[in-house]
Amino acid sequence: MSFDVVAANYDQEFTQHPIGLWLRQRIQARLAQLFSAGDVVLEIGCGTGEDAIWLAQRGIKVVATDASPMMLEITQRKVSSLGLDDFVTCRLLDLNQLPLWKESLRFNGVFSNFGPINCTERYSDLADFLMRHLQSGAKLGFGVMSPFCLWESVWHSLHLDFKTAFRRLKKQQLVTFADGTQFLVYYPSVKRLMNAFMPHFKKLGVMGLGVWVPPSDIFGVLERHPRLLRLSYWLERQTAAYWPFRTWADHYWLEMAYV
Ligand SMILES: C[S@@+](CC[C@H](N)C(=O)[O-])C[C@H]1O[C@@H](n2cnc3c(N)ncnc32)[C@H](O)[C@@H]1O
Repeated sequence: MSFDVVAANYDQEFTQHPIGLWLRQRIQARLAQLFSAGDVVLEIGCGTGEDAIWLAQRGIKVVATDASPMMLEITQRKVSSLGLDDFVTCRLLDLNQLPLWKESLRFNGVFSNFGPINCTERYSDLADFLMRHLQSGAKLGFGVMSPFCLWESVWHSLHLDFKTAFRRLKKQQLVTFADGTQFLVYYPSVKRLMNAFMPHFKKLGVMGLGVWVPPSDIFGVLERHPRLLRLSYWLERQTAAYWPFRTWADHYWLEMAYV
């Protein structure tokens, strides 16, 4: 699986980066609102398990899934070393092969952070799958790469790299990792996702993530300017929940309820 090749360095390059940590805390604050101790939740595209472990440490059971065996292996290693095996179960789940999932457990909620949902365009299949595996009233939280990222468009336009500046406008994008493996990325709008999820799921709210804070490939731009970085954190806290900033971001965070 293509993400296997980035798994080993993922924590070093993103998770442990100070800006990555700050962004993740914004989402963990939302997860704390959505789920409570005793809940059993499904995570889609868990990567190296940071959010699953954070929830487990708060008494929430997580079935942490990913399409990358390497990502799951790293998650499992962390979970076992922290003694959290009773709280986090790792399972293979590919969003493009949902019928292969044979477990019958019904969850109190589901979440997916930092873009796994962008690796499929089968949104209706996902909605149907979740209807079969969620309890009524379950909460959903999806961190999805947005179709328009203000930072990315402005920064790359200033550098006359219009291809990167407006790459998200394409229906789908073929991404190539350093070792040559490739995968397709899609940038669905909130409207497009909600069209696939309604009427069984109700939209609760949307927040931008990475409106004033740059995307990970250009973290370095603000990292070198601590005062500007502090200003961008402040602006992000003030504006990310409001139109148009809630979707002019690297990711948007979409919350729904299964009704
Ligand atoms: C950017 S990482 C995010 C990881 C993690 N959620 C986090 O917060 O750090 C995207 C994750 O999506 C997973 N992924 C990619 N395609 C997938 C698919 N078709 N089904 C499920 N997971 C997928 C990758 O293996 C990777 O772990």
